[in-house]
Amino acid sequence: MEFRCLAVNGPVKEVWTGDTLVVGLFAPAGGSGRHLAEELVGDGLEGVLHRRRFEAKPGQSITLERPGDAPASLILVGLGDPGEFGLDALRQASAAAARTAAAAGAEELALWLPVEGLEPAAAAAAMAEAVRLGLYADQRFKSEAEPQSLPSRVTLLGLGPEGEAGLAHVAATCSGVELARRLVAAPPNKATPQSLAEEAAAIADAFGLELKVLERDDCEALGMGAYLGVAQGSDLPPKFIHLTYRPAGAATRRVVLVGKGLTFDSGGYNLKTAGSQIEMMKYDMGGSAAVLGAARAIAEIRPAGLEVHVIVASCENMISGGAIHPGDVLTASNGKTIEINNTDAEGRLTLADALVYACGLEPDAIVDLATLTGACVIALGEEIAGLWSPSDGLAEALLAAGKAGGEDLWRMPLRGSYKTGLKSHIADLKNTGPRPGGSITAALFLQDFVSKGLPWAHLDIAGTVWSDKARGLDPAGATGFGVRTLVAWLVAGAAA
Ligand code: BES
Ligand code: MN
Ligand code: ZN
Repeated sequence: MEFRCLAVNGPVKEVWTGDTLVVGLFAPAGGSGRHLAEELVGDGLEGVLHRRRFEAKPGQSITLERPGDAPASLILVGLGDPGEFGLDALRQASAAAARTAAAAGAEELALWLPVEGLEPAAAAAAMAEAVRLGLYADQRFKSEAEPQSLPSRVTLLGLGPEGEAGLAHVAATCSGVELARRLVAAPPNKATPQSLAEEAAAIADAFGLELKVLERDDCEALGMGAYLGVAQGSDLPPKFIHLTYRPAGAATRRVVLVGKGLTFDSGGYNLKTAGSQIEMMKYDMGGSAAVLGAARAIAEIRPAGLEVHVIVASCENMISGGAIHPGDVLTASNGKTIEINNTDAEGRLTLADALVYACGLEPDAIVDLATLTGACVIALGEEIAGLWSPSDGLAEALLAAGKAGGEDLWRMPLRGSYKTGLKSHIADLKNTGPRPGGSITAALFLQDFVSKGLPWAHLDIAGTVWSDKARGLDPAGATGFGVRTLVAWLVAGAAA
């Protein structure tokens, strides 16, 4: 799928020919799209809209087939109230329009949506990403694929060279999101620590990145008792993945992305029970999928001056005679001892050693992404990820990147007084606090493994990695959440 921008000064038909045209209409009067629709349909438009009960509500669309005419399909999409229209509504409308157009068999597609008042580069990127990601379908695990036709070219009308510049990172970013979606959707008998390491190797090979995979022995030598404790109940060997992007010239900024990579979380001896979504716990590697997706995107974009390290302490949380017991005490690689009062709070144990390792790289910032707590899902639902950071600057930069990428984040408090919930009588701390504020104590636990003063942020993406139904740009299933935020943040940081 190829994207381009095309400025329009005069009748659209004079600059663009294709089979399918999408025109956005505001409620109730229509705006500029109304004139274009009238130009193509003529005086009968009002009657058609009335008969088809088209009120231009957001998400509403009708297709007018015009055999023998050009364009042969005209798709009208509702944009709702013009006062509420912005980058997000533009994304939603573009994704919905793309799905309708693809279903109508569009080959050469154009979108006419109102972009006045929006920054052209941002508008073009938002539209193109929405079209591509909205049309993503994953049929790897079907014995027979359903036929799917995608438009070969998509023209964004009403956007000139400034818009075109906004398309520069679209393909790389979307490839990163798609990789993350594929990894998250893959079942736990396919996506294993080994297969994540192979994905990292494939990225390294394709784009010339450095890859180090630490085996169990290597991790033991580094004293990673917290991570290895989680891994010890599984028959699959743990893989500690360290992928590095280095810019062509000197790097002025070094960042580390850490992703939780539990390819399956049974809960361990604190076994997940019915209703706890145990059958969905393949997506417990959503953080690792996001950071690997971001690595793939950055490797293709190749920003100057920026060095990016991606760390995944990957393993499974399983039950066996060798698994950790509730009550065990583990020692992490910074020497801290942890009483395991709940084996299902395993993500933070793997992240503890990953964060200590990340700090050893002496970066300017660390961001971790993790499907860490059910409590975060209760707090923020499935559309918003939680953000914790002691650094206001880093938190604000990530919030801005989330906005630019079209992913919602909400800053949550790192309330120091709640750390008493993690006090242990026999070790330095327990891995689990009380149920109230469970996503906050989880973040506070992680903070214990980050060097003081080093800018660090934690994103809890437990609610946002997966969506049971299609929503906006996301198909039903894996969303690839986090990639767009990370890419926007990294690219902005490289430019700054
Ligand atoms: N992977 C889960 C968190 C999770 C739960 C993600 C539901 C997505 C949906 C994590 O390892 C976990 O089990 N957390 C426990 C922590 C508790 C034992 C303190 C939880 O949230 O229940
Ligand atoms: Mn768990
Ligand atoms: Zn987990």
